[in-house]
Amino acid sequence: MTDSVTITDNRTGESIEIPIDNGGVDARQWSKLLPGTWFFDPSFSTTAAAESAITELDGENGILRYRGYPIEDLAENSTYLEVAYLLIHGELPTQTQFDEWVHEITYHTFIHENVRKRFMEGFHHDAHPMGILVSTLAALSTFYPDAKNIFDPDSRHKQIIRLIAKMPTIAAGAHRHSVGMPFVYPDNSLDFCSNFLSMMWKVAEPHYQPDPVLVRALEVLFILHADHEQNCSTTAMRVVGSAHADPYSAAAAATSALYGPRHGGANEAVIRMLGAIGSLDNVDDYIKRVKAGEVRLQGFGHRVYKNYDPRATIIKRTAYEVFEVTGHNDLLDIALKLEEVALADDYFVSRKLYPNVDFYSGLIYQAMGFSTEMFPVLFAIPRTAGWLAHWLEMLDQDSRIARPRQLYTGPEVRAYAPIDARS
Ligand code: ACO
Repeated sequence: MTDSVTITDNRTGESIEIPIDNGGVDARQWSKLLPGTWFFDPSFSTTAAAESAITELDGENGILRYRGYPIEDLAENSTYLEVAYLLIHGELPTQTQFDEWVHEITYHTFIHENVRKRFMEGFHHDAHPMGILVSTLAALSTFYPDAKNIFDPDSRHKQIIRLIAKMPTIAAGAHRHSVGMPFVYPDNSLDFCSNFLSMMWKVAEPHYQPDPVLVRALEVLFILHADHEQNCSTTAMRVVGSAHADPYSAAAAATSALYGPRHGGANEAVIRMLGAIGSLDNVDDYIKRVKAGEVRLQGFGHRVYKNYDPRATIIKRTAYEVFEVTGHNDLLDIALKLEEVALADDYFVSRKLYPNVDFYSGLIYQAMGFSTEMFPVLFAIPRTAGWLAHWLEMLDQDSRIARPRQLYTGPEVRAYAPIDARS
Protein backbone atom coordinates (compact mmCIF):
# COMPACT_ATOMS: atom_id res chain seq x y z
CA MET A 1 0.00 0.00 0.00
CA THR A 2 1.36 3.44 -0.94
CA ASP A 3 0.56 6.61 0.97
CA SER A 4 -0.69 8.51 -2.04
CA VAL A 5 -3.74 9.27 -4.16
CA THR A 6 -3.99 9.04 -7.93
CA ILE A 7 -6.23 11.49 -9.78
CA THR A 8 -7.24 10.70 -13.34
CA ASP A 9 -8.71 13.19 -15.81
CA ASN A 10 -11.27 10.91 -17.47
CA ARG A 11 -11.48 13.22 -20.48
CA THR A 12 -7.84 12.66 -21.41
CA GLY A 13 -6.88 9.57 -19.41
CA GLU A 14 -3.97 11.51 -17.87
CA SER A 15 -3.17 10.72 -14.23
CA ILE A 16 -1.18 12.26 -11.46
CA GLU A 17 -0.07 10.56 -8.24
CA ILE A 18 0.12 12.84 -5.20
CA PRO A 19 1.71 11.66 -1.92
CA ILE A 20 -0.33 11.84 1.29
CA ASP A 21 1.87 13.81 3.62
CA ASN A 22 0.92 14.48 7.25
CA GLY A 23 -2.69 13.49 6.49
CA GLY A 24 -3.07 15.83 3.52
CA VAL A 25 -2.36 16.01 -0.22
CA ASP A 26 -0.68 19.00 -1.82
CA ALA A 27 -3.48 20.54 -3.91
CA ARG A 28 -0.95 22.58 -5.90
CA GLN A 29 0.06 19.31 -7.62
CA TRP A 30 -3.48 19.07 -8.96
CA SER A 31 -3.13 22.27 -10.96
CA LYS A 32 -0.26 20.66 -12.89
CA LEU A 33 -2.70 18.07 -14.26
CA LEU A 34 -5.73 20.33 -14.60
CA PRO A 35 -4.76 24.01 -14.77
CA GLY A 36 -7.84 26.25 -14.35
CA THR A 37 -9.98 23.60 -12.63
CA TRP A 38 -10.42 24.50 -8.99
CA PHE A 39 -11.26 22.59 -5.84
CA PHE A 40 -14.69 23.84 -4.78
CA ASP A 41 -14.68 24.07 -1.00
CA PRO A 42 -16.80 26.95 0.33
CA SER A 43 -16.20 27.43 4.08
CA PHE A 44 -12.91 25.52 3.68
CA SER A 45 -14.22 22.49 5.55
CA THR A 46 -11.96 20.11 3.63
CA THR A 47 -9.08 22.51 3.03
CA ALA A 48 -5.93 22.71 5.13
CA ALA A 49 -4.94 26.34 4.53
CA ALA A 50 -1.63 26.15 6.38
CA GLU A 51 0.97 23.90 7.91
CA SER A 52 1.08 24.75 11.58
CA ALA A 53 3.06 23.61 14.62
CA ILE A 54 1.03 25.57 17.19
CA THR A 55 -2.13 23.72 18.17
CA GLU A 56 -3.09 20.09 17.67
CA LEU A 57 -6.81 19.40 17.61
CA ASP A 58 -8.19 15.89 17.21
CA GLY A 59 -11.94 16.32 17.24
CA GLU A 60 -12.75 12.60 16.98
CA ASN A 61 -10.85 11.85 20.17
CA GLY A 62 -11.49 15.10 22.05
CA ILE A 63 -7.82 16.12 22.12
CA LEU A 64 -6.50 19.69 22.28
CA ARG A 65 -2.80 20.46 22.76
CA TYR A 66 -0.79 23.69 22.55
CA ARG A 67 2.73 23.03 21.23
CA GLY A 68 2.31 19.40 22.34
CA TYR A 69 1.11 20.15 25.90
CA PRO A 70 -2.37 18.77 26.72
CA ILE A 71 -4.88 21.52 27.48
CA GLU A 72 -5.81 19.75 30.73
CA ASP A 73 -2.21 19.99 31.93
CA LEU A 74 -1.92 23.66 31.05
CA ALA A 75 -5.29 24.55 32.62
CA GLU A 76 -4.25 22.79 35.81
CA ASN A 77 -0.71 24.12 36.16
CA SER A 78 -0.07 27.15 34.00
CA THR A 79 -1.06 30.80 33.70
CA TYR A 80 -2.36 32.72 30.69
CA LEU A 81 0.88 34.68 30.27
CA GLU A 82 2.97 31.51 30.38
CA VAL A 83 0.68 29.93 27.77
CA ALA A 84 0.95 33.07 25.63
CA TYR A 85 4.74 32.74 25.78
CA LEU A 86 4.47 29.06 24.84
CA LEU A 87 2.22 29.77 21.86
CA ILE A 88 4.41 32.56 20.55
CA HIS A 89 7.87 31.14 21.26
CA GLY A 90 7.12 27.44 20.88
CA GLU A 91 8.59 26.45 24.27
CA LEU A 92 7.69 27.04 27.90
CA PRO A 93 9.87 29.83 29.34
CA THR A 94 12.66 29.44 31.88
CA GLN A 95 12.15 31.46 35.07
CA THR A 96 14.33 34.30 33.74
CA GLN A 97 12.53 34.37 30.38
CA PHE A 98 9.17 34.32 32.13
CA ASP A 99 10.05 37.13 34.54
CA GLU A 100 11.22 39.29 31.65
CA TRP A 101 8.07 38.49 29.62
CA VAL A 102 5.73 39.32 32.51
CA HIS A 103 7.68 42.51 33.28
CA GLU A 104 7.51 43.71 29.67
CA ILE A 105 3.78 42.98 29.38
CA THR A 106 3.02 44.59 32.74
CA TYR A 107 4.80 47.79 31.72
CA HIS A 108 2.96 48.08 28.41
CA THR A 109 -0.58 47.95 29.77
CA PHE A 110 -1.18 51.71 29.53
CA ILE A 111 -2.71 53.14 26.39
CA HIS A 112 -1.99 56.57 24.91
CA GLU A 113 -4.25 59.20 26.49
CA ASN A 114 -5.52 60.23 23.07
CA VAL A 115 -6.73 56.68 22.45
CA ARG A 116 -8.76 56.80 25.63
CA LYS A 117 -9.94 60.42 25.55
CA ARG A 118 -10.47 61.07 21.88
CA PHE A 119 -11.32 57.63 20.55
CA MET A 120 -12.93 55.58 23.27
CA GLU A 121 -14.83 58.44 24.88
CA GLY A 122 -16.08 59.49 21.46
CA PHE A 123 -18.25 56.38 21.07
CA HIS A 124 -21.95 56.61 21.68
CA HIS A 125 -22.91 55.73 25.27
CA ASP A 126 -24.47 52.40 24.27
CA ALA A 127 -21.76 51.33 21.81
CA HIS A 128 -21.14 47.57 21.86
CA PRO A 129 -17.78 46.93 23.60
CA MET A 130 -16.76 44.64 20.75
CA GLY A 131 -17.25 47.48 18.24
CA ILE A 132 -15.12 49.73 20.46
CA LEU A 133 -12.44 47.04 20.69
CA VAL A 134 -12.30 46.48 16.91
CA SER A 135 -12.01 50.20 16.16
CA THR A 136 -9.52 50.96 18.92
CA LEU A 137 -7.25 48.12 17.84
CA ALA A 138 -7.25 49.41 14.27
CA ALA A 139 -6.55 52.95 15.56
CA LEU A 140 -3.51 51.70 17.52
CA SER A 141 -1.67 51.07 14.25
CA THR A 142 -1.61 54.85 13.72
CA PHE A 143 0.02 55.34 17.13
CA TYR A 144 2.77 52.81 16.38
CA PRO A 145 3.96 53.46 12.81
CA ASP A 146 6.95 51.16 13.49
CA ALA A 147 4.44 48.29 13.44
CA LYS A 148 4.69 48.35 9.64
CA ASN A 149 8.22 46.92 9.91
CA ILE A 150 6.89 43.40 10.13
CA PHE A 151 10.21 41.79 9.19
CA ASP A 152 12.17 43.61 11.91
CA PRO A 153 12.38 41.18 14.86
CA ASP A 154 12.56 44.00 17.44
CA SER A 155 9.49 45.72 16.04
CA ARG A 156 7.58 42.43 15.90
CA HIS A 157 8.43 41.70 19.51
CA LYS A 158 7.37 45.19 20.63
CA GLN A 159 3.97 44.97 18.90
CA ILE A 160 3.33 41.51 20.34
CA ILE A 161 4.03 42.77 23.85
CA ARG A 162 1.86 45.86 23.29
CA LEU A 163 -1.07 43.92 21.86
CA ILE A 164 -1.17 41.29 24.61
CA ALA A 165 -0.69 43.95 27.30
CA LYS A 166 -3.20 46.52 26.05
CA MET A 167 -6.12 44.20 25.20
CA PRO A 168 -7.43 44.05 28.81
CA THR A 169 -7.03 47.82 29.19
CA ILE A 170 -9.06 48.51 26.04
CA ALA A 171 -11.58 45.78 26.88
CA ALA A 172 -12.23 47.10 30.40
CA GLY A 173 -12.29 50.68 29.07
CA ALA A 174 -14.95 49.69 26.53
CA HIS A 175 -17.08 48.24 29.32
CA ARG A 176 -16.63 51.26 31.61
CA HIS A 177 -17.62 53.57 28.79
CA SER A 178 -20.76 51.56 28.02
CA VAL A 179 -21.94 51.80 31.65
CA GLY A 180 -20.88 55.42 32.18
CA MET A 181 -18.15 54.63 34.72
CA PRO A 182 -14.79 56.43 34.75
CA PHE A 183 -11.84 54.70 33.12
CA VAL A 184 -9.55 52.84 35.57
CA TYR A 185 -5.82 52.94 34.85
CA PRO A 186 -3.84 49.69 35.00
CA ASP A 187 -2.39 48.73 38.37
CA ASN A 188 1.02 47.29 37.63
CA SER A 189 1.31 45.73 41.08
CA LEU A 190 -1.36 43.20 40.06
CA ASP A 191 -1.02 40.11 37.89
CA PHE A 192 -2.56 40.07 34.39
CA CYS A 193 -6.02 38.73 35.31
CA SER A 194 -6.32 40.64 38.62
CA ASN A 195 -5.37 43.83 36.83
CA PHE A 196 -8.11 43.24 34.27
CA LEU A 197 -10.68 42.65 37.02
CA SER A 198 -9.47 45.80 38.79
CA MET A 199 -9.94 47.85 35.60
CA MET A 200 -13.41 46.33 35.21
CA TRP A 201 -14.80 46.65 38.71
CA LYS A 202 -12.79 49.15 40.79
CA VAL A 203 -14.95 51.94 42.19
CA ALA A 204 -13.49 54.09 45.01
CA GLU A 205 -11.28 51.66 46.90
CA PRO A 206 -7.59 52.65 46.83
CA HIS A 207 -6.45 49.15 45.86
CA TYR A 208 -8.80 46.62 44.26
CA GLN A 209 -8.13 43.02 45.35
CA PRO A 210 -10.22 40.45 43.47
CA ASP A 211 -11.20 37.09 44.92
CA PRO A 212 -8.39 34.60 44.16
CA VAL A 213 -10.88 31.90 43.09
CA LEU A 214 -12.34 34.24 40.46
CA VAL A 215 -8.87 35.26 39.32
CA ARG A 216 -7.89 31.61 38.86
CA ALA A 217 -11.18 30.90 37.02
CA LEU A 218 -10.44 33.74 34.60
CA GLU A 219 -6.89 32.48 34.18
CA VAL A 220 -8.24 29.01 33.26
CA LEU A 221 -10.79 30.47 30.84
CA PHE A 222 -8.06 32.57 29.21
CA ILE A 223 -5.82 29.50 28.85
CA LEU A 224 -8.67 27.51 27.25
CA HIS A 225 -9.45 30.30 24.77
CA ALA A 226 -5.86 31.21 23.85
CA ASP A 227 -5.81 29.25 20.59
CA HIS A 228 -7.89 26.85 18.54
CA GLU A 229 -5.91 26.34 15.33
CA GLN A 230 -7.44 27.61 12.05
CA ASN A 231 -10.77 28.95 13.33
CA CYS A 232 -12.55 31.84 11.60
CA SER A 233 -10.78 34.72 13.41
CA THR A 234 -7.34 33.11 13.21
CA THR A 235 -7.89 32.55 9.50
CA ALA A 236 -8.80 36.26 9.21
CA MET A 237 -5.55 37.14 11.02
CA ARG A 238 -3.50 34.97 8.67
CA VAL A 239 -5.28 36.16 5.53
CA VAL A 240 -4.99 39.87 6.36
CA GLY A 241 -1.45 39.32 7.64
CA SER A 242 -0.53 37.61 4.36
CA ALA A 243 -1.09 40.98 2.66
CA HIS A 244 1.63 42.29 5.04
CA ALA A 245 -0.76 44.56 6.95
CA ASP A 246 0.57 45.62 10.37
CA PRO A 247 -0.45 43.37 13.31
CA TYR A 248 -2.91 45.91 14.80
CA SER A 249 -4.90 46.05 11.56
CA ALA A 250 -4.76 42.27 11.24
CA ALA A 251 -5.85 41.81 14.89
CA ALA A 252 -8.72 44.27 14.29
CA ALA A 253 -9.84 42.06 11.37
CA ALA A 254 -9.57 38.94 13.53
CA THR A 255 -11.58 40.66 16.28
CA SER A 256 -14.24 41.59 13.70
CA ALA A 257 -14.56 37.92 12.79
CA LEU A 258 -14.96 37.07 16.46
CA TYR A 259 -17.69 39.71 16.76
CA GLY A 260 -19.93 37.50 14.59
CA PRO A 261 -22.48 35.52 16.64
CA ARG A 262 -21.51 32.28 14.90
CA HIS A 263 -18.02 32.57 16.32
CA GLY A 264 -17.79 34.61 19.53
CA GLY A 265 -21.42 34.77 20.54
CA ALA A 266 -22.52 31.21 21.21
CA ASN A 267 -22.15 31.43 25.00
CA GLU A 268 -24.51 34.40 24.97
CA ALA A 269 -27.02 32.24 23.08
CA VAL A 270 -26.66 29.59 25.79
CA ILE A 271 -27.54 32.09 28.52
CA ARG A 272 -30.57 33.26 26.54
CA MET A 273 -31.65 29.65 25.98
CA LEU A 274 -31.29 28.71 29.67
CA GLY A 275 -33.24 31.83 30.66
CA ALA A 276 -35.99 30.98 28.18
CA ILE A 277 -36.26 27.40 29.47
CA GLY A 278 -36.58 28.96 32.92
CA SER A 279 -37.09 25.86 35.08
CA LEU A 280 -36.12 22.20 35.32
CA ASP A 281 -39.71 21.23 34.49
CA ASN A 282 -39.36 22.67 31.00
CA VAL A 283 -36.18 20.78 30.05
CA ASP A 284 -37.91 17.75 28.52
CA ASP A 285 -40.17 19.95 26.41
CA TYR A 286 -37.20 21.94 25.15
CA ILE A 287 -35.36 18.75 24.18
CA LYS A 288 -38.49 17.65 22.26
CA ARG A 289 -38.45 20.95 20.35
CA VAL A 290 -34.76 20.50 19.57
CA LYS A 291 -35.42 17.01 18.19
CA ALA A 292 -38.32 18.35 16.11
CA GLY A 293 -35.86 20.79 14.52
CA GLU A 294 -37.65 23.87 15.93
CA VAL A 295 -34.70 25.12 17.99
CA ARG A 296 -31.03 24.23 18.53
CA LEU A 297 -29.50 23.09 21.76
CA GLN A 298 -27.09 26.01 22.12
CA GLY A 299 -23.62 25.08 23.35
CA PHE A 300 -23.91 21.60 21.88
CA GLY A 301 -22.17 20.29 18.77
CA HIS A 302 -19.05 21.51 17.03
CA ARG A 303 -17.72 21.52 13.48
CA VAL A 304 -14.54 19.75 14.56
CA TYR A 305 -15.24 17.99 17.88
CA LYS A 306 -17.25 14.83 17.45
CA ASN A 307 -16.63 13.93 21.06
CA TYR A 308 -16.76 15.84 24.37
CA ASP A 309 -14.96 19.17 23.84
CA PRO A 310 -12.06 18.80 26.34
CA ARG A 311 -12.44 22.48 27.24
CA ALA A 312 -16.04 21.87 28.33
CA THR A 313 -14.92 19.31 30.94
CA ILE A 314 -12.49 21.80 32.47
CA ILE A 315 -14.96 24.67 32.35
CA LYS A 316 -17.66 22.62 34.05
CA ARG A 317 -15.31 22.03 37.00
CA THR A 318 -14.40 25.73 37.07
CA ALA A 319 -18.11 26.66 37.11
CA TYR A 320 -18.59 24.78 40.39
CA GLU A 321 -15.61 26.59 41.95
CA VAL A 322 -16.94 29.98 40.85
CA PHE A 323 -20.45 29.31 42.15
CA GLU A 324 -18.94 28.45 45.56
CA VAL A 325 -17.91 32.12 45.69
CA THR A 326 -20.69 33.87 43.80
CA GLY A 327 -23.59 31.78 45.10
CA HIS A 328 -25.93 29.28 43.53
CA ASN A 329 -27.26 29.90 40.00
CA ASP A 330 -30.49 28.17 38.93
CA LEU A 331 -29.36 28.30 35.32
CA LEU A 332 -26.53 25.87 36.16
CA ASP A 333 -29.09 23.31 37.34
CA ILE A 334 -30.95 23.68 34.04
CA ALA A 335 -27.69 23.29 32.12
CA LEU A 336 -26.76 20.14 34.04
CA LYS A 337 -30.20 18.62 33.46
CA LEU A 338 -30.08 19.49 29.73
CA GLU A 339 -26.70 17.81 29.45
CA GLU A 340 -27.88 14.72 31.32
CA VAL A 341 -31.01 14.34 29.19
CA ALA A 342 -29.19 15.03 25.90
CA LEU A 343 -26.32 12.63 26.57
CA ALA A 344 -28.79 9.82 27.21
CA ASP A 345 -30.79 10.53 24.05
CA ASP A 346 -30.07 8.79 20.76
CA TYR A 347 -30.74 12.00 18.74
CA PHE A 348 -27.65 13.63 20.26
CA VAL A 349 -25.55 10.47 20.66
CA SER A 350 -26.02 9.35 17.04
CA ARG A 351 -25.09 12.83 15.76
CA LYS A 352 -22.11 13.02 18.11
CA LEU A 353 -23.43 16.19 19.75
CA TYR A 354 -21.66 16.94 23.01
CA PRO A 355 -21.31 20.11 25.11
CA ASN A 356 -18.78 22.53 23.64
CA VAL A 357 -16.69 25.23 25.35
CA ASP A 358 -19.59 27.67 25.28
CA PHE A 359 -22.06 25.52 27.19
CA TYR A 360 -20.67 26.54 30.61
CA SER A 361 -18.42 29.55 29.93
CA GLY A 362 -21.28 32.08 29.71
CA LEU A 363 -22.60 30.92 33.09
CA ILE A 364 -19.21 31.61 34.68
CA TYR A 365 -18.89 35.03 33.06
CA GLN A 366 -22.42 35.92 34.10
CA ALA A 367 -21.78 34.82 37.68
CA MET A 368 -18.63 36.97 37.73
CA GLY A 369 -20.74 40.01 36.81
CA PHE A 370 -19.88 40.40 33.10
CA SER A 371 -22.63 41.58 30.77
CA THR A 372 -23.38 39.34 27.79
CA GLU A 373 -21.96 42.03 25.47
CA MET A 374 -18.61 41.46 27.15
CA PHE A 375 -18.54 37.70 26.42
CA PRO A 376 -16.89 38.00 22.97
CA VAL A 377 -14.50 40.62 24.40
CA LEU A 378 -13.46 38.08 27.05
CA PHE A 379 -12.77 35.67 24.20
CA ALA A 380 -10.71 38.23 22.25
CA ILE A 381 -8.32 39.07 25.12
CA PRO A 382 -6.67 35.63 25.33
CA ARG A 383 -7.16 34.72 21.66
CA THR A 384 -4.78 37.60 20.87
CA ALA A 385 -1.88 35.31 21.86
CA GLY A 386 -3.07 32.65 19.41
CA TRP A 387 -3.62 35.18 16.61
CA LEU A 388 -0.12 36.56 17.06
CA ALA A 389 1.45 33.10 17.16
CA HIS A 390 -0.24 32.29 13.84
CA TRP A 391 0.71 35.67 12.38
CA LEU A 392 4.38 35.04 13.20
CA GLU A 393 4.25 31.49 11.89
CA MET A 394 2.63 32.64 8.65
CA LEU A 395 5.25 35.36 8.08
CA ASP A 396 8.08 32.94 8.81
CA GLN A 397 6.64 30.45 6.34
CA ASP A 398 7.24 33.07 3.68
CA SER A 399 3.66 32.49 2.58
CA ARG A 400 2.19 34.07 -0.54
CA ILE A 401 -0.75 36.45 -0.25
CA ALA A 402 -3.97 34.52 0.47
CA ARG A 403 -5.97 34.59 -2.73
CA PRO A 404 -8.52 31.81 -3.37
CA ARG A 405 -10.18 31.25 -6.74
CA GLN A 406 -13.89 31.10 -7.57
CA LEU A 407 -16.23 29.19 -9.82
CA TYR A 408 -17.85 31.95 -11.87
CA THR A 409 -21.63 31.50 -12.25
CA GLY A 410 -22.63 34.96 -13.55
CA PRO A 411 -23.81 36.03 -17.03
CA GLU A 412 -21.82 35.61 -20.24
CA VAL A 413 -20.34 38.72 -21.82
CA ARG A 414 -22.97 41.34 -22.84
CA ALA A 415 -22.95 44.86 -24.23
CA TYR A 416 -23.59 47.95 -22.09
CA ALA A 417 -27.08 49.40 -22.77
CA PRO A 418 -27.80 53.10 -22.21
CA ILE A 419 -30.32 53.67 -19.37
CA ASP A 420 -33.23 54.65 -21.67
CA ALA A 421 -32.77 51.48 -23.70
CA ARG A 422 -33.22 49.15 -20.67
CA SER A 423 -36.50 47.40 -20.01
N1 ACO B 1 -28.81 21.17 18.49
C1 ACO B 1 -29.57 20.29 17.79
N2 ACO B 1 -29.17 19.65 16.69
C2 ACO B 1 -27.93 19.92 16.26
C3 ACO B 1 -27.08 20.81 16.96
C4 ACO B 1 -27.57 21.44 18.12
N3 ACO B 1 -26.82 22.28 18.81
N4 ACO B 1 -25.89 20.87 16.31
C5 ACO B 1 -25.99 20.07 15.25
N5 ACO B 1 -27.22 19.48 15.23
C6 ACO B 1 -27.69 18.48 14.28
C7 ACO B 1 -28.06 19.11 12.95
O1 ACO B 1 -29.42 19.46 12.91
C8 ACO B 1 -27.73 18.00 11.99
O2 ACO B 1 -28.75 17.03 12.07
P1 ACO B 1 -29.26 16.27 10.72
O3 ACO B 1 -28.08 15.46 10.28
O4 ACO B 1 -30.43 15.48 11.16
O5 ACO B 1 -29.58 17.37 9.74
C9 ACO B 1 -26.47 17.35 12.58
O6 ACO B 1 -26.60 17.60 14.01
C10 ACO B 1 -25.18 17.93 12.04
O7 ACO B 1 -25.18 19.34 12.26
P2 ACO B 1 -24.48 20.43 11.34
O8 ACO B 1 -25.26 21.72 11.46
O9 ACO B 1 -24.22 19.88 9.98
O10 ACO B 1 -23.08 20.60 12.08
P3 ACO B 1 -22.03 21.75 11.81
O11 ACO B 1 -20.71 21.14 12.01
O12 ACO B 1 -22.27 22.47 10.53
O13 ACO B 1 -22.38 22.79 12.97
C11 ACO B 1 -22.37 24.00 14.97
C12 ACO B 1 -21.65 22.96 14.11
C13 ACO B 1 -22.62 25.31 14.17
C14 ACO B 1 -21.47 24.35 16.17
C15 ACO B 1 -23.71 23.39 15.46
O14 ACO B 1 -23.47 22.22 16.18
C16 ACO B 1 -24.53 24.38 16.29
O15 ACO B 1 -25.28 25.17 15.73
N6 ACO B 1 -24.40 24.33 17.65
C17 ACO B 1 -25.08 25.27 18.51
C18 ACO B 1 -24.34 26.60 18.54
C19 ACO B 1 -23.04 26.51 19.29
O16 ACO B 1 -22.96 25.98 20.40
N7 ACO B 1 -21.95 27.07 18.71
C20 ACO B 1 -20.64 27.14 19.36
C21 ACO B 1 -19.62 26.33 18.67
S1 ACO B 1 -18.09 26.41 19.55
C22 ACO B 1 -17.34 27.83 19.04
O17 ACO B 1 -17.48 28.29 17.95
C23 ACO B 1 -16.40 28.55 19.98
